Amino acid sequence: MTPLIDPFGRAITYLRISVTDRCDLRCIYCMKERMRFLPREDLLSLEEIDRIAAAFVARGVRRLRFTGGEPLVRRGFVDLLTSVSRHLQTGALDEVLITTNGVQLATFAERLARAGVSRINVSLDTLDRATFTRISRRDRLNEVLEGIEAAAAAGLKVKINTVALKHDNAHEIADLVQWAHARGHDMTLIETMPLGEIDEDRTSQFLSLARVREDLASFWTLTDLPDRTGGPARYVRVEETGGRLGFITPLTHNFCEGCSRVRLTCTGKLYLCLGQEANADLRAPLRASPDNEELQSAIDAAIAIRPKGHDFVIERLAKPATVRHMSVTGG
Ligand code: GTP
Ligand code: 5AD
Ligand code: SF4
Repeated sequence: MTPLIDPFGRAITYLRISVTDRCDLRCIYCMKERMRFLPREDLLSLEEIDRIAAAFVARGVRRLRFTGGEPLVRRGFVDLLTSVSRHLQTGALDEVLITTNGVQLATFAERLARAGVSRINVSLDTLDRATFTRISRRDRLNEVLEGIEAAAAAGLKVKINTVALKHDNAHEIADLVQWAHARGHDMTLIETMPLGEIDEDRTSQFLSLARVREDLASFWTLTDLPDRTGGPARYVRVEETGGRLGFITPLTHNFCEGCSRVRLTCTGKLYLCLGQEANADLRAPLRASPDNEELQSAIDAAIAIRPKGHDFVIERLAKPATVRHMSVTGG
């Protein structure tokens, strides 16, 4: 089957699959305290997600990343991972990955490793209990820290994701980097992105990573690395800690030209760019027939309308660029 190439010549080799938009935390930059979630009756079944994943693997997708909301809150999720891992054995797929908030990781780490997951990204914005509770609106820091430890013990490679927040963790970023690197984890810092309505004003929390980098460079030696994951992060080595540090800077630097990823929601919508509304429904063509012909044509039609990139700008941070939240596409 032919590979997927978008109108700008970018090959689609990476699919992010959000298995649920629900979550057991309520991070202030991501969600409102009271969220209206997608109706359960609209959800794809795990078998349907498996079929769509296989359709993309047949078209040259080499990496699957499962996200949420929080993927570990979806019942049967580990069985889905075990199933898609058959493409690892055939050599069609390079990696099965997940992004999690870590709350239930201690329970799941071993099972994830056995299901074929090699690397996981865990969100952690602070090491301070009160700050964690304020940012995520839930008192779950201990579970997350235990989860990270359990993941490492199970042999999973861990990357820590930290959203940089002017008021909540700016002063703590160097400590977090040191903490992560001391445990052998890579770390990525993320600028807040204007996705969906939240309860507060994002502009007031926005912290430019260009500034953070300057600040870190005043006491550490940061060496640029050529490493790319087909994603938005640009990495440096912190010579003093020996660890890798990534910067995801959609607002201060646009990186869409090399983007190889598309996103499937738990209701079967394929989003073609994180910062744009452009999407296509795959659920109807999937359900139209048991063979994948209609599904494959729908995928082709979607890739053909893929936009060039997002247009997040700092001046417009107060107004969401998309109506959907990050939790719908899982970042
Ligand atoms: P890798 O597979 O290791 O590259 O992971 P990743 O860093 O892309 O994935 P992760 O799920 O850990 O996401 C980290 C952050 O990157 C999240 O805040 C995502 O929203 C953000 N992100 C991921 N992909 C994109 C993208 O294409 N554009 C933008 N602007 N942000 C993205
Ligand atoms: N802007 C930036 N990052 C966000 N995340 C969730 N919402 C946003 C947002 N609006 C982060 C989470 C997690 C990753 C998948 O996305 O903290 O680490
Ligand atoms: Fe949940 Fe992640 Fe959103 Fe926090 S950022 S509320 S952990 S989906």
